[in-house]
Amino acid sequence: MDAIKHRRTQKVLAKTPWTPSLTDGQREELVQELLTLAAAAPYHYESAAKYRNDLTSGLPFRCYVADAARCRAAVDYAAAQEVQAGKISEMLNAAEVLFIVTWLPDTFGEPIVGREPIPFTGNLRNMEHIAATGAAIQNMLVGATGLGYPNYWSSGGALRFDPMRSHFKVPNEEIILGTLFIFPKDAASRADEVVPGKLRNKGKEIATWSKKV
Ligand SMILES: Cc1cc2nc3c(=O)[nH]c(=O)nc-3n(C[C@H](O)[C@H](O)[C@H](O)COP(=O)(O)O)c2cc1C
Repeated sequence: MDAIKHRRTQKVLAKTPWTPSLTDGQREELVQELLTLAAAAPYHYESAAKYRNDLTSGLPFRCYVADAARCRAAVDYAAAQEVQAGKISEMLNAAEVLFIVTWLPDTFGEPIVGREPIPFTGNLRNMEHIAATGAAIQNMLVGATGLGYPNYWSSGGALRFDPMRSHFKVPNEEIILGTLFIFPKDAASRADEVVPGKLRNKGKEIATWSKKV
């Protein structure tokens, strides 16, 4: 319960690349733990068969994992490609791990070449694929919070699009629901800035969004 209540957006910004705080072994343990929590989320429908090739699961989402070194390398790559990644680069300088989480739309008609298939068909299965993916992401955020790692669910900014999307090997037929930044435990003391979520305290009074029926 405490981890749920304490989860909050912390955008940790670093102007220069940080030395990772975890060993490779510690980071892998963290990654496996958070992926295990993601897989514990409820899901209603399996993904369409066409997605089960390289990664074979019927779960309606996929998760692409970049360690600290890959995050730092992506900052260099963005600069070399003249991508205006802004605060995303500053967060890649600080991140211990980045998870890029996609959901797998049931598709109809011709595939869209060169970009993710938005708009997607608005039907029950797709709604529930997104819901299941959101539940998986929330499990990861709550888990990271419980373990003491500051974290942030971002739409992804420049990471959604090429060349950054291809750099992280995210297939175009999948739709990014979140890029999750997991920061070192001591981020607050090292950061140039830690930015909270804009809507953190908005709309929270229970009587304003819930009523007896
Ligand atoms: C689907 C989704 C996408 C989000 N994308 C962004 C984003 O791109 N930029 C951002 O500043 N915050 C993003 N957020 C975080 C929200 O801003 C944040 O959750 C909100 O301000 C409430 O703050 P809290 O997380 O501390 O409760 C996103 C949250 C969700 C659920």
